[in-house]
Amino acid sequence: MTASKDTRGFTSNLGAIVAAAGSAIGLGNIWRFPYTVGQNGGGAFLLLYILFVFFLGLPIMMSEFVIGRRSQRNTVGAFRQLGPQYKRWTFVGVLGIVAAFLIYSFYSTVAGWTLNYVFLSGSGQLSGRTPEEVSQVFASFTSGTAAPLVCQLAFILLTAAVVLLGVQKGIEKCTKILMPLLLVLMLLLCVRSLTLRGSSAGLAFLFEPDFSKLTWSSVLSALGQALFSLSIGMGALVTYGSYIRKEDNLFKTGVCVAGADTLIALLSGIAIFPAVFAFGMSPASGPSLVYEVLPNVFGSMPMGALFAVLFFLLLSIAALTSTISLLEIVVLWAVEELHMKRVTATFLVSLLVFALGTVCTLSFGPFADLHIMGKTFFECLDHLTATYMMPIGALCIILFLGWRYPKAEVFDELTNQGRLKAGYFRVYYFVLRFLAPIALFIILIMGILGNS
Ligand code: PHE
Repeated sequence: MTASKDTRGFTSNLGAIVAAAGSAIGLGNIWRFPYTVGQNGGGAFLLLYILFVFFLGLPIMMSEFVIGRRSQRNTVGAFRQLGPQYKRWTFVGVLGIVAAFLIYSFYSTVAGWTLNYVFLSGSGQLSGRTPEEVSQVFASFTSGTAAPLVCQLAFILLTAAVVLLGVQKGIEKCTKILMPLLLVLMLLLCVRSLTLRGSSAGLAFLFEPDFSKLTWSSVLSALGQALFSLSIGMGALVTYGSYIRKEDNLFKTGVCVAGADTLIALLSGIAIFPAVFAFGMSPASGPSLVYEVLPNVFGSMPMGALFAVLFFLLLSIAALTSTISLLEIVVLWAVEELHMKRVTATFLVSLLVFALGTVCTLSFGPFADLHIMGKTFFECLDHLTATYMMPIGALCIILFLGWRYPKAEVFDELTNQGRLKAGYFRVYYFVLRFLAPIALFIILIMGILGNS
């Protein structure tokens, strides 16, 4: 899927599912999901999140696949390729490229932290510490300059290397083995966390919905989190869709990806919240949450140091399969539209991402006082992309497919030219045309009004 046109495409349906799930499953599930749930009051937010994943996320994901596979193009060229009359819609692709670039910038900050936690836990620097000391380690590392920047750069270079080496053989193969391993480790963490004394308060927080805690702005956050976690609304899955084989079932692929992504998010909630309450921490502490909570969980289990290394290693890999897709969106665009060489595009994009990413990383240290509308630069990018750019991108994608592109063509692509049954089509098309755009529109407007 990396190299040139002749190698375009995944080799099997499992390959496509794994790559798309690799893009979806990442820091969004294990880092962003718990702290967003924590900041938005727990159970009610979780319920909304799940509703959004299956009633909005899945149809939008399928729509992105349709656009990508039908056009066989990058996310900007796709619209033009579908027909000259759709040329005006290329702005949707441009929005996606910008979003991918911005997300990659702040995502690589956190991915860098994860990499460092592999070393911290491996060298025993996290074991035998009190919860306060664990928090102290996090604060002093992230507020530094050189260390977090080096980690971020290492991660960006790693991503670039994999994209250049050929994702098909490297990442497709690796993820098939490593993702199940991540699942096993998550299950183990859940068991440990649930058997901690005082853990039931965490479960109650996660699973007992209290709708009085919901505001329009948290509804918008739930939508943003669902889109962010599924990698939709910004062309990642248009790009990957263009690599899916013509004979694969797009609906089935989407269901598998959305299901796997939700499972990992839920497990991560079950691993985190009981521990948060058992160790007397605050669920609303923001981006530092998992880095402050999980080392305590590891510290309280036999062979905890070993499991900690394994866990952060797998989390780094999960993050890597996501950054690869982020880089790939921009690189494929540069290769196909700007006629750049893949190597040049990869290095140029990586360099620019590091430049912007530096500001994100330093916003936990030297630039901590630099605030834009009450948020640090890092928080600003996170909020801007997930809460606004992705829902707006998603809205444009479904408006295009539901109202502008012929229904017969959509049906044709989803059924593989009539060869597959598609009993779901009428429901899907109704959601695509009416339910999803109306819901997205209302949530966006109310969320924006509620935030201002
Ligand atoms: N879905 C990824 C995650 O959950 C993040 C991502 C967003 C990746 C958008 C690609 C595109 O970590």
